[in-house]
Amino acid sequence: MTHTLSPALHLLHPSESTGSATLQGLYRDAPLPKGSGKTPWMYANFVTSLDGRISLDTGVGCRVPNTVANPRDWRLFQELAARADCLITSGRYLRELEAGCAQDILPVGSEFTDLLHWRQEQGLSPQPDVAIVSGTAQFQIPPLLREQGRRVWLIIPEDTPDQRLQAHRQAGAQVAARFRGHRVTGAQLRDTLGALGYGRVYSVAGPQVAHTLIRDGCLDTLFKTVRHRVIGGQSSQFETVVEGAPLEQPADFRLRWLYLDPGTAPGEEQQFLRLDRLDGPAGPDA
Ligand SMILES: NC(=O)c1ccc[n+]([C@@H]2O[C@H](COP(=O)([O-])OP(=O)(O)OC[C@H]3O[C@@H](n4cnc5c(N)ncnc54)[C@H](OP(=O)(O)O)[C@@H]3O)[C@@H](O)[C@H]2O)c1
Repeated sequence: MTHTLSPALHLLHPSESTGSATLQGLYRDAPLPKGSGKTPWMYANFVTSLDGRISLDTGVGCRVPNTVANPRDWRLFQELAARADCLITSGRYLRELEAGCAQDILPVGSEFTDLLHWRQEQGLSPQPDVAIVSGTAQFQIPPLLREQGRRVWLIIPEDTPDQRLQAHRQAGAQVAARFRGHRVTGAQLRDTLGALGYGRVYSVAGPQVAHTLIRDGCLDTLFKTVRHRVIGGQSSQFETVVEGAPLEQPADFRLRWLYLDPGTAPGEEQQFLRLDRLDGPAGPDA
């Protein structure tokens, strides 16, 4: 645990408040927007290499490589989940989970007992709920989600066969929205989750969901960990933060904070960034 939590981080931006900070609690205790009205504050988090890779295909499909993933970033990923009312995940993630090759079960992980207690103290549900986004509705819902007391929402196509829908309902899921075609829009996602009353929505999915949200101006904040390590990869064998058609309107973000994490050994140095959409997140930090 000590290896994960020390040494101290250096705050580099905003420059008027430079200083040091501890990793544990960095995102758990940071003031964050809560959303306003029926508009949730929506955020995502990625760990990338210095050459911008979030995952690499080494023959078994794209995975976050161990050369980039690290316990200190993982702690912050979990802290962001502790702040969420609802997570967005993908049909593809659930297929990988079933096949035994997903990175991990959905956060908050049971080993992060302090974060689970923290949620309880805040009067939050034990675990954030889950919204599954899929253009096929082809996945299995792991029983664990229900056992953890999470509400599980489906955001799936209108033409999902009844039998498949029935199976998901039996597994404890409810339909939040059914959309035309095979791609939900970011605005549909935001409006659906806002109408369900969620104030903070955390996308733990990958670059397609990020594209969906960013294209519609629905990703309010991007948390990014940039490890100072180059890992390479052939052009069709890695993924970056966003995957999809070029954006008609480029999305601009403003640096809100930047921490330098020296790590515990050479090769572990990384940055933790918070970037807010330029036209502003939903509501003030609280
Ligand atoms: N480094 C990091 O921090 C990080 C973080 C997250 C993910 N990743 C990596 O990114 C890769 C992909 O992750 P992912 O599969 O969770 O996410 P994703 O690439 O965002 O989503 C893929 C799946 O989500 C569904 N989907 C996405 N956008 C949709 C839309 N607009 N409408 C309907 N369905 C939509 C589709 O599911 P169906 O196929 O069921 O239609 C699609 O196959 C993995 O390799 C993962 O390890 C890395």
